[in-house]
Amino acid sequence: MRKLLLLFALAGIFLTSCSDENVLTVSSPDGSINVRFEIDNGKPFYSINQKGKAVIKPSALGFHLQEMAPLTDNFRILKSTKTTFDETWEQVWGEKQFIRNHYNELLIELQEKEGDNRKMNVVFRIFDNGVAFRYIIPQQENLNNFVIMDEITEFVMADDHTAWWIPAYQEHRYEYLYSETKLSEMGSVHTPVTFKTNDGLFLSIHEAALVDFASFVVESLPGNRLKTDLVPWADGTKVKTQAPMESPWRTIQIAEKPGDLITNYMGLNLNEPNKLDDISYVKPSKYMGIWWALHIGKNTFWRGPDLGATTENAKYYIDFASKHNIPLLLIEGWNPGWTTEWYLDAMHEFIFTQSVPEFNIEEVVKYGNERGVKLIGYHETGSNLVNYLNQIDEGFELYRRLGINDIKIGQVGTKLNMKEWHHGQFGVNYYHDVLMKAHANRLAVNFHEPIKPTGLRRTYPNLMTAEGGRGMEYNAWSEGNPPNHETIIPFTRLLAGPMDYTPGIFDVMIKYREGRRVHTTVAKQLALYVIIHSPTQMLADLPENYDGHPAFQFLLDVPVDWFDTQVLNAEIGQYITMVRKDRHSNDWYLGSLTNEKPRNLEVKLSFLDAGKKYKAQIYADGADADWESNPTPVSITEMEVDNNTILNLELAAGGGQAIRFVPVN
Ligand code: NOJ
Repeated sequence: MRKLLLLFALAGIFLTSCSDENVLTVSSPDGSINVRFEIDNGKPFYSINQKGKAVIKPSALGFHLQEMAPLTDNFRILKSTKTTFDETWEQVWGEKQFIRNHYNELLIELQEKEGDNRKMNVVFRIFDNGVAFRYIIPQQENLNNFVIMDEITEFVMADDHTAWWIPAYQEHRYEYLYSETKLSEMGSVHTPVTFKTNDGLFLSIHEAALVDFASFVVESLPGNRLKTDLVPWADGTKVKTQAPMESPWRTIQIAEKPGDLITNYMGLNLNEPNKLDDISYVKPSKYMGIWWALHIGKNTFWRGPDLGATTENAKYYIDFASKHNIPLLLIEGWNPGWTTEWYLDAMHEFIFTQSVPEFNIEEVVKYGNERGVKLIGYHETGSNLVNYLNQIDEGFELYRRLGINDIKIGQVGTKLNMKEWHHGQFGVNYYHDVLMKAHANRLAVNFHEPIKPTGLRRTYPNLMTAEGGRGMEYNAWSEGNPPNHETIIPFTRLLAGPMDYTPGIFDVMIKYREGRRVHTTVAKQLALYVIIHSPTQMLADLPENYDGHPAFQFLLDVPVDWFDTQVLNAEIGQYITMVRKDRHSNDWYLGSLTNEKPRNLEVKLSFLDAGKKYKAQIYADGADADWESNPTPVSITEMEVDNNTILNLELAAGGGQAIRFVPVN
C-alpha cells in the first residue's frame, strides 16, 4: 500500500578529510550543521555546531555493562564511511503527504585497543535541521549476550538554556503540565524536551525508532550537562540484549524558529518504511464517544443507574453520529470489571471477552452498521498485563468477528503489573507486541498511557495515535490545563507524534461537574483540530452540546489527514498559528490560539494558490469573549480572500480562531 516516490538515492563513499586520525567531521547537506567526532585518550566524544554556534559541546558516548568492562574507553577508529541519502517518500497518512529524507551519514567503526578488542559502531545522520546518532554493536566473538546498566551519552549544552519539560519517574506517567525553567533546574525529564538558547536557536532532544530498548529520560547535571538515563527494569538493569544490536536513534532537532521544530520530520525519516502488508483497514477518521460523559459524571464507567455503556445510550450516540456522517464511536465501560475504584493502582481484573448485560454488543454493532457508524473497541487493562495478555487473543478475536477495525487500549496505573515502568524495555516490548497482534487482527490502535511516540507509525501505520500527555480529561476532574498548555504541547509532546488530546468541548463550564471547567473559549476548541495532529480525532463533547450549535459545522468539515502543514507564527508558551491543507481536497484550514493573553496576529495568506479566490469561513472569538468570564461567543463570518490577503486574527484571552478556506469554483 505504501507508495514510495524516489527522487534519487545516493550512497557514495566520500573521502574523509581530516589530518588527525582521531578526529572525523561531517556536515549537513546544506553545510549549516557540523558534527565533530573525536577519540580523546581512547574515549569517544561528539560535538555539534550550527552556523558556527556551539549547539552540543564535546559530549561522552558509550555504555556501562553488567559484569563486563564498560564500552566507554580504550577505543580506536577502525574505519569510517561517509554516505549521503536523498529520497522523498509518501506517508500512508499524516501531517504531510510527501516527506524528504535528506542527510549525510558518518559511520564510525570503533574497536578496543586492548583486552577483548570489542567493537562498537556509532552512526551519525546529519540533516539540515538536526542530528541523529545511534549505537550499533556488531556481531562479534567477545560480546554476545549483555546487559546494559547505563548509557553515558551526554548532550553538553553551550549555556543554561530555557527549557520546557515534564518530570520523569512520576505517578501519572507523561501526564503533567510543562514547566519552563533554566535547564539546570530540570532534574530528570521525559523527552521530547525543548530548549531556547540565548543566541536564538530552538533545540529539542528526543529519540526515534524505539524498539526492544529502554526509553531514555534526560538527567540535568552540573555544567549544563544533560545525560541519558535509561528507564530501568524492576531489577535495576536497563537493557537486556545481544549482538548484533542497534540502539534507537538519539535526536537533536535544531531550528531558528520555533515553528520549524514542528515541520521537522527527522524522527519519521529515521524510522523504517512501512513493514505491514495489507493496511486497507487503517482509516484516519473522526470519532465520537461514550466517554466525556463518564469523565464529567453524567454517566459512570461502572454498572448502576447511570451506566454509560447501555444499548439504548449507544443507539442515541449512533443516531447522532450517523446524522452527521461521523464514522466511529468509542464506548467505554462496556465490559465487566469496572468498579468505582477502577483507576487505583491494583491488579484489576477486567474481562475482555464479554459485555455487561446492559450492553448488547452484537445489537449495537448491527445498529451501527446499518447507519454507517462502526465501533471503536476498548480495552482498559488497568496495567494488569497478566490478566490482559491472558485474554488478548480472544478479546481481539471478538472484535475481528464483529468487523471492528479500531481499538483504544488503556494502561492506567503507575507501573505495568504494578512493577515495571511503562517506559522501560519491558513496556517498550509490550506495546510493540500488542501493536503487532492488533495488526494480525486488522486493528488500528490508539494507546492511552502509552510509551512515547518515536516515529514508529511510519513502520507500523496501524499505530494511529496515543495519549502520552495531559489531555482534555484533566479539565473534567482536576484543576485542569491552563490556557497556555496548548501553546506548549505543539513544541514538546506533539513533536513526538500524534496525540489523542480529545478536543472539541463546547460546554466549557461543564454543567454536570460543578467547580470544574475547561480553560478555553469555544473558538479555541475549534483551533485545536488544526494545531493538534491526530489521524483519529475525537469530537469529545456530548451530542446534545453539539446539536444545533453553529460552530459544530467546523468540526464536521475539518479533516484529519493532511497534504501539507505550515506554521505561520509561534512563540512557545504564548501563541501559535498553523495552516494545513486537506489531503483529499483543495481546502486549507487555519488554527490559531493564544495563552492567557489576548492578542492580534497578522497573517498573510501566502500559502494559498496564487491567482485563486477562496471563501474563508471564519470562526473567531465573539464580542467580549474571554476564557475566564465569557468563553462561549463565537462569531462566524465569511469573506473572499486570495494569497495576497492579510488577515488580522483577533484572539481573546485564552482564545483562538479557526478558518476553512474553500476554493471558489
Ligand atoms: C484514562 C484515559 O486517558 C481515558 O481516556 C479513559 O477514559 C480512562 N483512562 C478509562 O480507561
